[in-house]
Amino acid sequence: MEKKVLILGSKGMLGQELVRVFAEGGYAVTGWDFGDIDVTDTVAARERILMLSPDVILNAVAYNAVDLCESDEAEAKKAWRLNAEVPGELAAVANGLGAILVHYSTDYVFDGEQETGGYAEDADPNPLSVYGRSKLGGERSVAEVGGKSYVIRLSKLFGKPAISAGGKESFFAKMATVAHEKGTVSAVDDENGCFTYAPDLADATLSLVSDEAPFGTYHLVNEGAATWYGALRTYFDVAGIDTPVTPVSGDAFPRPARRPKDSTLRNTKRPRLRSLREALAAFSGKIG
Ligand SMILES: NC(=O)c1ccc[n+]([C@@H]2O[C@H](COP(=O)([O-])OP(=O)(O)OC[C@H]3O[C@@H](n4cnc5c(N)ncnc54)[C@H](OP(=O)(O)O)[C@@H]3O)[C@@H](O)[C@H]2O)c1
Repeated sequence: MEKKVLILGSKGMLGQELVRVFAEGGYAVTGWDFGDIDVTDTVAARERILMLSPDVILNAVAYNAVDLCESDEAEAKKAWRLNAEVPGELAAVANGLGAILVHYSTDYVFDGEQETGGYAEDADPNPLSVYGRSKLGGERSVAEVGGKSYVIRLSKLFGKPAISAGGKESFFAKMATVAHEKGTVSAVDDENGCFTYAPDLADATLSLVSDEAPFGTYHLVNEGAATWYGALRTYFDVAGIDTPVTPVSGDAFPRPARRPKDSTLRNTKRPRLRSLREALAAFSGKIG
């Protein structure tokens, strides 16, 4: 019989790719987003999920407004509720069903003060921001419940814009628009890290679950760390955009939340995803 997968946040940048990839992978897919469910409504959400009784729950819901929650108390509370508490509640529901939970986290759980080489999955987190602390809270609340859970850390997601009401374009698409309108762009060149192409992460999630990999924490990112500047240069190169890109310090764009200087994630446990360059070529439509 087909396995049932429930995708929460199914209209998000990642969620929509998970829906497609798991359906293609032979799962019976249910995708819920705002309008179908409010995951912060603990009792109602629990009841609906128990009724559906999925074998696998993928939690792609998150609070992602990194700067807003840094400077606004009410937003910080929302971030904590959605990113730290809800994942634990979902883990408890999954546990009750004997289901697998896949939860997504971020490189921003690290402070970026590593020496070289990138953070392995078992490195000690030390978030610098309200957002980072809320995501670490989610990792911990899932771990506290125990059970059949995966926490996948990713970094700087890009892909098709979310189809949800609050959906935003990714960095590369926004910069292509700026290049077209202004004929020049600048990008931060003193924050290094990995990038993650949403379709590649969806594929890697499917294979993680299908392979019955051991439960635990994973780093699933495209290979090859870059700064925003470096990644944008690569994107413009593969997309055939000849607008010059100026490297600038992060201080040129003052933002309330501190970012790690080098939050490169090392994937030591799973097959490597393709390179950032190849992923950007796919995103630009130059390769499949
Ligand atoms: N984006 C990045 O660069 C990045 C980096 C590192 C880690 N991550 C992690 O990757 C995962 C996927 O991120 P993403 O960028 O794909 O997120 P996203 O595009 O914001 O998608 C999240 C979806 O969940 C919906 N949602 C929000 N609150 C909800 C609620 N209470 N009940 C039901 N649905 C709700 C959102 O609707 P609305 O849009 O209408 O609110 C949206 O459709 C998250 O765990 C995120 O923290 C993302």
